[in-house]
Amino acid sequence: MPAEMITTPPLLEVQGLVVTTTGPDGETVRLIDDVSFTVDDGEVVGIVGESGSGKSLTMLAVMGLLPYGLEVASGSIRWRGKDIVGLREQQLRQIRGRDIGMIFQDPMTALNPLRRIGSQLAEAIRLHQKVSRAEARTRVHGLLARVGVKDAATRARAYPHEWSGGMRQRAVIAMAMANDPALLIADEPTTALDVTVQAQVMMTLEQARAELSSALILITHDLGLAAQNASRMLIMYSGRIVEAGSTRDIFLSPTHPYTQGLLRSQLTARDERAYAIPGNPPSPRSRPSGCAFAPRCELARGRSICVEVRPRLETRPNGSRSACHFADEVRSPLPVAPIGSEG
Ligand SMILES: Nc1ncnc2c1ncn2[C@@H]1O[C@H](COP(=O)(O)OP(=O)(O)O)[C@@H](O)[C@H]1O
Ligand SMILES: [Mg+2]
Repeated sequence: MPAEMITTPPLLEVQGLVVTTTGPDGETVRLIDDVSFTVDDGEVVGIVGESGSGKSLTMLAVMGLLPYGLEVASGSIRWRGKDIVGLREQQLRQIRGRDIGMIFQDPMTALNPLRRIGSQLAEAIRLHQKVSRAEARTRVHGLLARVGVKDAATRARAYPHEWSGGMRQRAVIAMAMANDPALLIADEPTTALDVTVQAQVMMTLEQARAELSSALILITHDLGLAAQNASRMLIMYSGRIVEAGSTRDIFLSPTHPYTQGLLRSQLTARDERAYAIPGNPPSPRSRPSGCAFAPRCELARGRSICVEVRPRLETRPNGSRSACHFADEVRSPLPVAPIGSEG
């Protein structure tokens, strides 16, 4: 077998992940229901879906940080080929912060309000690397400079409340990158920020990521933001992946009506007559037994198969995956192909 055919395992491989909790009547509720995907070294993957679709729980499961009362009921989560489900907390802590850097929506969840920003960053470095305090401090200044903090040596002495929201999120990005992680997970990293600084912070994140050639999982409800940054996307709905493919395929030839609806709302977002997908996602406790999107879907109207049979996530001829009985009938709402999309 030629060397290039011996496959090295992906950086992250999630297979059949099911996360459950116990409902008020003692019933088992599947919050994440059979989610599978991979992330390769250096790749930027977007996870997109409305609020409540299961994006955050999927990633919390990967990091072993599920809230109390939730558990991984089945499936595997492999880090460079090694299953990390059920690892002891101490072993997981080795992976988090060193191999995986995390950026959450609210920078204050990652920053201690009572400590200077510089010393928090230095501690993040010294937790995983044997370096002197002086060396750590020098690295902190380098990290802060990398995320666009000017006069880093002076400003590192500030407390979090002395920095603006955008600057704080830059500090969190610096912290997530402190140990040169192979994977960054950013969960709605700009959603809590002023619109005016969102783009700058996102650009900072992307530049710093590219310099380290880390992989990035970008979790967002904003399809446009994911499209600008990710080469591949997973579209989640009601705890499942309903479509997965390259950003280009998702835009030019979506194969799930939910994706089509997201595209349409994205396109009309600045119009007076903005489009919104009608209705709301089901609660995980009362998810329809057929397609979870059927009650909101135009293609499902009058079609009993959509109500009765849950569509499987099937691989399509172009390599993308779709969970729709009528994937062939889905059309992109894009008026024209974007520049550079031909060929
Ligand atoms: N601690 C919890 N206990 C019970 N249900 C939860 C808990 N956390 C999240 N959920 C439910 O799991 C589903 C997925 O949540 P989440 O992953 O946070 O969605 P997203 O990040 O896509 O907005 C939602 O229906 C949410 O209400
Ligand atoms: Mg979330």
